[in-house]
Amino acid sequence: MRNKLEEIKESSKQVLKDIRDKASLEAVRVEYLGKKGKLTDVLRGMGQLSAEERPIIGQLANDVRSFIEEEIAKISAELEKAEIERKLAEETIDVTMPGKTNKIGGKHPITIVLDEIKDIFIGMGFQITEGPEIETDYYNFEALNIPKDHPARDTQDTFYIDDNTLLRTQTSPCQIRTMENMKPPIRIIAPGRVFRSDSPDATHSPLFHQVEGLVVDKGVTMADLKGTLEIFCKKMYGEDIQVRFRPHHFPFTEPSAEMDISCPSCHGKGCRVCKGEGWIEILGAGMVHPKVLKICGIDPEVYSGFAFGLGLERIVMRRFDVDDIRLFYENDLRFLKQF
Ligand code: DAH
Repeated sequence: MRNKLEEIKESSKQVLKDIRDKASLEAVRVEYLGKKGKLTDVLRGMGQLSAEERPIIGQLANDVRSFIEEEIAKISAELEKAEIERKLAEETIDVTMPGKTNKIGGKHPITIVLDEIKDIFIGMGFQITEGPEIETDYYNFEALNIPKDHPARDTQDTFYIDDNTLLRTQTSPCQIRTMENMKPPIRIIAPGRVFRSDSPDATHSPLFHQVEGLVVDKGVTMADLKGTLEIFCKKMYGEDIQVRFRPHHFPFTEPSAEMDISCPSCHGKGCRVCKGEGWIEILGAGMVHPKVLKICGIDPEVYSGFAFGLGLERIVMRRFDVDDIRLFYENDLRFLKQF
């Protein structure tokens, strides 16, 4: 037994020499000191020893056990120390290193301009609303005083889903939905996508964006319309911009107008941007037609309102000198990264 114990001590020394990680160290511990380990195995034979031999072998066995335990503890401490050192070395922060710049996405040019427009109108007490892109004939046409046989339907090449359902051709249906759901005073803008079955070219796209505006209250006049839109343009293009209103026709407003601004590029002299005109058309507007108010349950004898609708793409194109509307929808990063 003495030999066996000596052997165990020697072989444990050999095995422990090559241990490099905690898992194999634990395996060795189990192999030597565990319940079914080598040492326990030997000690099972103690019963057969004589009374004199028993304490001597017992002492020896305890020595071997302590020896192995101490060795394991030593190696375990060393492994832990090495692990901490490895971590420290690995996680050293060199404060002189340049930081990593995270590339974050940018805003789409249409979003940049729309955010500006929203800010300006929020500053004037407007709320932002939205309406569905899939509309019914009623909201897109009928309630806006554009009955079935009205010629205005021909100018808006409509994508029909079925006889009664369509992709909205304008954001004006948001006026109806707003008046149905809100009581005056109403002051909202409703931006969003609109759809017309146009063949795409540099200035046409079957999908584009409009921003609708609507104000309804007691005593709202054409002067409020002109004042509000003039302030909007001055905030958008600068104090020296001029605006002018030309009579026009929309079925849902009476009277109706189109608004031009003096060309921001040439200040009215005439240039490539304004095609020599000195003026650029930017929106349609008018006093909400009494019929439209009535359809929405608002008494035109008590309330009046004005509305406007502007095409976003044209504003963005001029702002950033983009000469092809299709660039906005192609998601070419070389284009988008420029904003
Ligand atoms: N919906 C019109 C269009 O798409 C634009 C418009 C004109 C909207 C006059 C209005 C408005 O609210 O009052 O051409």
